Amino acid sequence: MSEPTPPNGGTTEAASPAPHPTDEAAVQAAVDAALTAFVDATDLESLKAARLAHTGEKSPLSLANREIGRLDKAEKATAGKLMGGARGRVNQALAARTAVLEEEHAARILVEEAVDVTAAPHRRRAGARHPLSILQDRVSDIFVGMGWEIAEGPEVESEWFNFDALNFAPDHPAREMQDTFFIDPPASHLVLRTHTSPVQMRSLLERDLPVYVLCPGKTFRTDELDATHTPVFHQFEGLAVDKGLTMADLRGTLEHFARQMFGAEAAIRLRPNYFPFTEPSAEMDIFHPGAKGGPQWIEWGGCGMVHPNVLRAAGVDPEVYSGFAFGMGIERTLMFRNDVPDMHDMIEGDIRFSEHFGMEI
Ligand code: PHE
Repeated sequence: MSEPTPPNGGTTEAASPAPHPTDEAAVQAAVDAALTAFVDATDLESLKAARLAHTGEKSPLSLANREIGRLDKAEKATAGKLMGGARGRVNQALAARTAVLEEEHAARILVEEAVDVTAAPHRRRAGARHPLSILQDRVSDIFVGMGWEIAEGPEVESEWFNFDALNFAPDHPAREMQDTFFIDPPASHLVLRTHTSPVQMRSLLERDLPVYVLCPGKTFRTDELDATHTPVFHQFEGLAVDKGLTMADLRGTLEHFARQMFGAEAAIRLRPNYFPFTEPSAEMDIFHPGAKGGPQWIEWGGCGMVHPNVLRAAGVDPEVYSGFAFGMGIERTLMFRNDVPDMHDMIEGDIRFSEHFGMEI
């Protein structure tokens, strides 16, 4: 590696051979050379190089000064006076030039580092949470507000939790109701859960009675993506198991929930339906007062009283306890609650879609 070259071509070696300390003309020439170098220095950096060259240890004047000691007494006095004056002039010039350049430097910094408080700010786009996540949190909050707990279960689920424990017989046609993604090898008996209902059984096995849980989460079915279907979607499952629960508790809970979500004018309606894990079972419609095309009834999800076989499979005595359960799609809820006609928008991840909803829906 080579030494960095000082700017201004300035070098640290002597500018010219050292004058004899009594040689007035030679000393003056050294002084002149120094003064010229200081004036030529245009910034503090080059002034530093000039200072080293003309006042440094190996500068002509320093070397001459060192010679004074070797002179005889008479010459010493002359040389001392000459050199003292010479070095004084050089140091004075150096100090003056330093002051000027420092001032220039400070003035330049003020200009270069000035902050324009009127300049337009560079804004970084803040992004936004996905409306499905916000809606999921909103649903969860409503149930937490009623004293319910949030439960979770795996997305890769055993067939037993997804079907058998929920009273689907092995050859029950209801298994075909839901188009299932099976995980290889078939002997693993694993599926991508087709609904959040397996969390019903998991919650009953994991928790002490009574149980009041809401489980929001991802679910999977072999649907093609179109405006109203997506193979990966979200549901929220509700499960309450306690002593003395009836269909009236189910109705009251869903009605309260519907009003929290859709306003005081909202209402619900139950229509008989079939699910293997609830008896009786119902399809639940919601009266949506603020729907885009005017107030109307909309299919919202499934519900019912927990089937005694499900309670038994969890070791709960159906003679002592009863329960209700419900399940709704979050995408579907977002569609009609927030007027999103096409599901593509929910899954394409375009930030403009999320931003449109803001942080609160
Ligand atoms: N799991 C059902 C579905 O996905 C919905 C449901 C949940 C029905 C709970 C009854 C009780 O269609």
